Amino acid sequence: MADKNTYATMSNGLKVPMIGLGTWKSKPGEVKNAVKTAIDIGYRHIDGAYLYLNEGEVGEAYKEKIADGTVKREDLFVTTKLWATFHRPERVEQALRLSLKALQLDYVDLYLMHSAMGAQHVSDTEMFPTGEDGKALLDDIHYTETWKEMEKLVEKGLTKSIGVSNFNVPQMKEVLKIARVPIVMNQIENHPCIDQREVIDFCKSKNIVITSYSPLGSPDRAWASNKDPNLREHPLVKEIADSKGCTPVQLLIAYHLCQGLVCVPKSVTPSRIEQNFLAIDVKVTDEEIKKLDTLAISKYRAVPWDFWRNHVHYPF
Ligand SMILES: NC(=O)c1ccc[n+]([C@@H]2O[C@H](COP(=O)([O-])OP(=O)(O)OC[C@H]3O[C@@H](n4cnc5c(N)ncnc54)[C@H](OP(=O)(O)O)[C@@H]3O)[C@@H](O)[C@H]2O)c1
Repeated sequence: MADKNTYATMSNGLKVPMIGLGTWKSKPGEVKNAVKTAIDIGYRHIDGAYLYLNEGEVGEAYKEKIADGTVKREDLFVTTKLWATFHRPERVEQALRLSLKALQLDYVDLYLMHSAMGAQHVSDTEMFPTGEDGKALLDDIHYTETWKEMEKLVEKGLTKSIGVSNFNVPQMKEVLKIARVPIVMNQIENHPCIDQREVIDFCKSKNIVITSYSPLGSPDRAWASNKDPNLREHPLVKEIADSKGCTPVQLLIAYHLCQGLVCVPKSVTPSRIEQNFLAIDVKVTDEEIKKLDTLAISKYRAVPWDFWRNHVHYPF
């Protein structure tokens, strides 16, 4: 099968497929099939995280698709993320090894620090530890200390590259000051309702690739409200999509691809997984991107990380 993917080249020379399958909220019992379907359709990039607690099934999907000859390991671009409770230097390698074991892989292609915010390690599976008073047990360890340990994971061959997620510009600058291994990527929330120009412009100036997460506005997140902007139904999105003969969701994905931004829409529905991949063929003009950018809502975020708003490294 011919490779339909288009690629961004990261500063370490590795190529990342512009469209990847998101796996946050993809439940056990659903996610294995979603990943296998995606690989059958032609996706070669899967976005995961230790936090999503589904890496075991994602790993089964890789194993089965490699065993049946659909792909080789080296054809896949596998991302996972270092969770907050593993930011202390002595826990960083342990965290990646836990992910690798679940994924049944020897290495990942990209390891991202999930955010600059650390939290106390209570157990390997307690993601949002709280004290007896119900308050979050935060850890103010500096993300540059964590980054230095992530660099060692590249040297050990456990990941091909390292990057960050949810980092603001000053936080990236802090890491760049001490980095021996470059930040190849920042994964951030991005869609027409959020203005990410400052972060995107900075990343472009430093050769850091952007991955856009929650490109459809994350309508299945637990705290979704009917007051949220409904990107998929927005009249402007529908009007532009209609004019090109694509679906609103395809337009919302192509909006990123046509700006050179990697995009990781999540779905567990086979017909949608296919529809989303075909966004590769949709061309969005600069003028249309400008029109879509008028939908930005001041201070709006679908994923504001509110639970850790008091963290010393809260980025937004
Ligand atoms: N780094 C971070 O902190 C961070 C944060 C958030 C997200 N992410 C990554 O980004 C990925 C995507 O973001 P997200 O999961 O928040 O949300 P999203 O991709 O914006 O939206 C997912 C929702 O859209 C639905 N959907 C997908 N394709 C559709 C289509 N063609 N038509 C109609 N509905 C469609 C999905 O439904 P079904 O699944 O039911 O089909 C699901 O309800 C995540 O899964 C994760 O990998 C990273």
